[in-house]
Amino acid sequence: MQRRQAEPYKIKVVEPIAVTTPQHRRTASVEAGFNTFLLRSQDVYIDLLTDSGTSAMSDNQWAGMMLGDEAYAGSRNFYALQEAVQDIYGYPHVIPTHQGRGAEHIISQILIRQGDYVPGNMYFTTTRAHQERAGGTFVDVVIPEAHDPRSGHPFKGNVDLGKLRELVDRVGADRIPYLSLAVTVNMAGGQPVSLENMRQVSAFCRERGLRIICDATRCAENAYFIKEREPGQADRSCRDILKEMLSYTDGCTMSGKKDPLVNIGGFLATREFDVYQKATQLVVLFEGMPSYGGLAGRDMEAMARGIREMVDDDYLAWRIGQVRYLGGQLQEAGVPIVEPVGGHAVYLDARSFLPHVEQARYPAQALAAALYLDSGVRAMERGNVSAGRRPDGTEYFPRLEMVRLTIPRRVYTDRHMDVVADSVVALYRRRERIQGLTMVYEPPALRFFTARFEPIGGMLAEG
Ligand code: F0G
Repeated sequence: MQRRQAEPYKIKVVEPIAVTTPQHRRTASVEAGFNTFLLRSQDVYIDLLTDSGTSAMSDNQWAGMMLGDEAYAGSRNFYALQEAVQDIYGYPHVIPTHQGRGAEHIISQILIRQGDYVPGNMYFTTTRAHQERAGGTFVDVVIPEAHDPRSGHPFKGNVDLGKLRELVDRVGADRIPYLSLAVTVNMAGGQPVSLENMRQVSAFCRERGLRIICDATRCAENAYFIKEREPGQADRSCRDILKEMLSYTDGCTMSGKKDPLVNIGGFLATREFDVYQKATQLVVLFEGMPSYGGLAGRDMEAMARGIREMVDDDYLAWRIGQVRYLGGQLQEAGVPIVEPVGGHAVYLDARSFLPHVEQARYPAQALAAALYLDSGVRAMERGNVSAGRRPDGTEYFPRLEMVRLTIPRRVYTDRHMDVVADSVVALYRRRERIQGLTMVYEPPALRFFTARFEPIGGMLAEG
């Protein structure tokens, strides 16, 4: 018999959540324009919108908050953060930012020139938006399996070296400021990159004189997948694997709101002194002094401590296990999800879930809206709405049309996962009643945050 494992923590403080009624959810849905981003959190029962900034901090992190040194310059908490980054990530130079996109902004402005190309193993919304804003064109160089929700490839986030080589040969290395390497790949379903792939990519980039900037947002979760899946890695610690992963890169942008277990914060880190120097000039303009970058001393302390906690092998095994536990229940019921289950979320494959809803009617957005109506579970669309429009105004119509059930770290128990699974399965049984949405308000950039919708043909299969 397989012995069951429980959460590697116990609960010291609780936060009550509202168990909503169908009538309440209907009213809230209309007010929010059927966009889960526009719901009030108080109207949500189980919040799986994102794993970003939603983690539960440990008692050790909260204790650190009380040790905040709120000096304008040279706060001791900055040095604690710098040391944690040097220790765990291995980069010498660190600049705090208010969150990940603050770092993306700065690195894009420093390295990208008008007309440049930025290859990446799949886009992320804010990352690509900053690259484009700086004059770059994003080029997808992820392996084809990443775009196939059915492919069981163990490292679906891998870079396709052939695609990367083709781009370098076509436009020249001097038009490519860096390869943008995400570990794990959020938009592919939280899929990891292998060490082997990173080694090869790094060798190629070195040979061609290309820099690698890592989006290290969920790097600890990536390290766990390597430990679990890559031959010869099982006996290493995640901490050790992570250090090797990042040794193949020249710098990183980091959202502290994911793996580092804090509610706000991020940083930019680099091995290059001149990039660091330029970043110190820009951070003063947009974030704050290089020794706080938009964060309070206490925030930096919490992140420094979270960085050390995030690489704990038992924590990571439980964390990935909880996500897989939810995914497994859906798979057993025949619900189409992205496989293998990724690190931070279970992704419903909305195209297969709702094959009768064409992509122009936003099937993933409709499914997320229906899930909220059914049970008060809030998920996020990651499909046509998130992909937005090309510079010429046409929609991207991405191959992956998904609903993300994102699991905050250390927040919900497995029983919450059971409730989510029940709701998704119930919806799957009456899926043909969901007809899609029309968009009635569309903002010009990052439209998924504030777009509004109306359901086509009734209230999206209410129970
Ligand atoms: N990179 C990745 C892969 C991300 O998932 C995010 C944020 C960022 C960069 C930007 O970081 O939010 O701190 O500015 N992802 C959140 C999400 C918003 O829900 O997936 P940020």
